[in-house]
Amino acid sequence: MMNAATPNDDAPTASGGEGWSEDMELAPVHPADRAPETDADREGERLQKVLARAGVGSRRVSEDMIEAGRISVNGAVVQVQGMRVDPTRDKIAVDGVRVEIRDDRVTYAMNKPPGVITAMSDDRNRPTVGDMVGDLAPGLVHVGRLDQDTEGLLLLTTDGELAHRLAHPSYGVRKTYLAQVSGSVPRDLHKRLRAGIDLDDGPVKVDSFRVVDTHAGQSVVEVVLHEGRKHIVRRLLAEVGLPVSRLTRTAVGPIELRAMRSGTIRKLSREELGTLSELVGL
Ligand code: URA
Repeated sequence: MMNAATPNDDAPTASGGEGWSEDMELAPVHPADRAPETDADREGERLQKVLARAGVGSRRVSEDMIEAGRISVNGAVVQVQGMRVDPTRDKIAVDGVRVEIRDDRVTYAMNKPPGVITAMSDDRNRPTVGDMVGDLAPGLVHVGRLDQDTEGLLLLTTDGELAHRLAHPSYGVRKTYLAQVSGSVPRDLHKRLRAGIDLDDGPVKVDSFRVVDTHAGQSVVEVVLHEGRKHIVRRLLAEVGLPVSRLTRTAVGPIELRAMRSGTIRKLSREELGTLSELVGL
C-alpha cells in the first residue's frame, strides 16, 4: 500500500517550478517517526491532482481551497493536504456542490427530433438515435425511451448504472413534458391527476400538472412524473379526454432542454453530471 512517505509515480507538474514540489512532502522519514496512517495515506490519487484534472483549479489553487476548508470528501471537510482519493468511488464537493471527477464516463443530452426511434440501431433501417450519435463515444446507451413521435430531451451515457437509476421509477427522477392537447382542460384536472388515474396496466399519478397556454380549442399542458411506462403521458391524457397532438420532454431531473435545437447533442458539464449522480445516490 502506498502512503505519504512512499515515493509515488505521480507525474511532475507545472507547480514544481513554482517553488513547491511534491518531493518536499516526500522527504525520507525514519519509519519510527512516521505518523500513524490516516485518511491522507489511503491508496489512490492525491486530492489536489484529481481536483486539478477535474478542472476545479490548478493544483496550487486546489491546495488553497483545501486549506480554506472548501473541499469535502464523502461529506467530510478535508482538514489536511495530501489526502488520497479514489476518483471512481469517492464523492468530492467544492463548497458543498458535488463535482464529477470520474473522467472515464460521459453523458450527453440530445434534443431528439420526432420520427427518430430510441434505439442504437434498427434492423428495419429506420432512423435511430444511434445514427445521430455516430461514433461519439463507445458504449453509449440511451436513458429510457421516447416514442418515435415524441421529441425533446434524451440522455445518453456510457455509465450503465447511471442509466438504470435515472430510468427506474424507484429512484423517483422526475421527467417533465409539454403536451399539446385538443379540448378544454377542466379546472380540477390537476387534482385528479395527482390523486391517480387508472390505466389498463395500473394506476398512474403525476407529480405536478399545469396549463401553460390555451388558444383556439388547443392547450399546452406541462406534466411532471417519474414513471417510465410506454406511452404513459399520451395514454394518461387520452384517458382524461385530452388527446395529445405533440409531446416534448423538456427536463430529466435537473437537466433541462432549454434552447437546444432539434437534432443537436451536447455533453453534460461536470456540475450537471455531479448533480445528476447525486440525485440517484451515485
Ligand atoms: N410518455 C409518452 O407517452 N411518450 C413518451 O415518449 C414519453 C412519455
